[in-house]
Amino acid sequence: MWPYPKIVAHRGGGTLAPENTLAGLRAGLAYGFRAVEFDVMLSQDGIGVVMHDPDFGRTVWGQGQVAETSAAALAKMDAGRWFGPEFRGEPVPLFLEFVDYCKEQRIWMNIEIKPVPGFEEETGSWVALTTRGRFGAEIAAGDPAAMPLLSSFSAVALAAARDAVPELPRAYLLDCIPADWEVQARELGAVAIHTNHKHLTPALAQAIKAAGFGLFCYTVNEAERAREIFGWGVDGFCTDRIDLIGPSFA
Ligand code: G3P
Ligand code: MG
Repeated sequence: MWPYPKIVAHRGGGTLAPENTLAGLRAGLAYGFRAVEFDVMLSQDGIGVVMHDPDFGRTVWGQGQVAETSAAALAKMDAGRWFGPEFRGEPVPLFLEFVDYCKEQRIWMNIEIKPVPGFEEETGSWVALTTRGRFGAEIAAGDPAAMPLLSSFSAVALAAARDAVPELPRAYLLDCIPADWEVQARELGAVAIHTNHKHLTPALAQAIKAAGFGLFCYTVNEAERAREIFGWGVDGFCTDRIDLIGPSFA
């Protein structure tokens, strides 16, 4: 059984706001979303920031790398201007600032650990320990629905998160599902498989559900496709089109 929201806003507010910003969370709230997926990586000084790309140039202007820039300097960067003039000045959020806003607004979180290459272990344990710092009571209560779900494409990051805070639920992110998915997922103590809906088949969906895992897809932007994969047993998905697929879809 899937204790989490079924429809989740991807990267904050999908295509309605600059990705991985508080403006994205506000856009999600405006469409009734109280569930978000976002990406976390570590700054040069080892502090989590909400960013997707390890390099500058797409969502923040200029050249450079997250891993070579301090969190204080990252937090001063404009992560909104690329998206539109009305978002000018929207900063790169610190992880804790983002988490605190979500907690305040009762937004459930799928925290994607997105390590800069070479920092998988550090990022996995930092995210788990820092999340525990904010969710001690919820972890003690043991109610999965009240806890964020950590996910990552990096098995090393997930193993580090597992070793640091075993009680926080984890999902293994897989673009194409490999033959040994179940062995890997069990080894990581994952509760769910998160996968690209484009490579999912009804047989794989059935096998994952039959093995007792949650099954979540990224990134589903058409209602017809959403209905199809729900028919295969998929538990939930994230979407960029929060304007087309609402939180109570399905
Ligand atoms: O967590 C699902 C999805 O966000 C993975 O892909 O590149 O959008 O982080 P990406
Ligand atoms: Mg992501």
